[in-house]
Amino acid sequence: TDFFAFIAGLPKAELHLHIEGSLEPELMFELAQRNRVAIPYASVEEVRAAYDFSNLQDFLDIYYAGADVLRTRADFHDLAMAYFRRAAADGVVHAEIMFDPQAHTDRGIAFEEVIEGLLSACRAAESELGLTSSLILSFLRHLSEEAAFATLEMAKPWLEHIVAVGLDSSEVGHPPQKFARVFAAARALGLKITAHAGEEGPPAYVHEALEMLGVDRIDHGNRALEDEALVARLVAEGMTLTVCPLSNLKLCVVDDLADHPLDRMLELGLRATVNSDDPAYFGGYVADNYRAVADARALSREDLVMLARNSFTGSFLPPEAIAVHL
Ligand code: HPA
Ligand code: ZN
Repeated sequence: TDFFAFIAGLPKAELHLHIEGSLEPELMFELAQRNRVAIPYASVEEVRAAYDFSNLQDFLDIYYAGADVLRTRADFHDLAMAYFRRAAADGVVHAEIMFDPQAHTDRGIAFEEVIEGLLSACRAAESELGLTSSLILSFLRHLSEEAAFATLEMAKPWLEHIVAVGLDSSEVGHPPQKFARVFAAARALGLKITAHAGEEGPPAYVHEALEMLGVDRIDHGNRALEDEALVARLVAEGMTLTVCPLSNLKLCVVDDLADHPLDRMLELGLRATVNSDDPAYFGGYVADNYRAVADARALSREDLVMLARNSFTGSFLPPEAIAVHL
């Protein structure tokens, strides 16, 4: 079969997806109208033209501004359903989606509105699309440890619906160590742990995420490659890296996809996966990411099968559910 059709046809899990980052300009306009919220753009074209980033912070400023149109549980439901439909078309059969409650509760939106909207979409995705999903509550690392604790407290009535906690937003200057205690509390509640590390931050942040947060997964992890001993440890521990090629390109983590280290990661024995991160902002959903990097790095079908396999092995599904997908 055709290479691109082969990619879309491969059953895969998506492990690194910020649901707020799946807000397409068309839905942004629809929700702005529905909620009578002013947005600083006159057209969908103008929105897309604004997505010209040279680093993580440029992107985050626009991403948090875009999220302002999300107000009610219906909005969060519609946002997540649009993502699930698009993901299912790309061969995604399981998605572990991150959400940033603080980006909403700090605007006066109740935690309950956010999570109930997302959960109703998760149920609809399973019944209508056969796509299973779980939620990862991400703490914003530019905010305080105290604010993260308050967010964890708000989540307590929904713990059975949350698989893990994560750590995102501005990386440099906000090392994992800042959140060691709140991640220990989350672990004690039975939650899995993931954290963005080594996207813009140094290898030392990846090391800290392992040592001080006890992560089960690393989001991005690109800069771990600068430290040979760290790579050896990640390989030995079978640590999953949730790599996001088009994100890396848009945020200038790599200058060119032709220089993307994905195949080097596989050669080193790292459990790398391919994910879309913020697909509405970075120009592609998960199959677009597989295609772009496969094309730029001349990946083989065996590489693609390994990446899809890793996405299940690295998921937070129970072992018996992982086995079904392998
Ligand atoms: N990195 C850090 N924080 C984020 C990202 C990202 O790629 N996307 C949404 N929040
Ligand atoms: Zn991310």
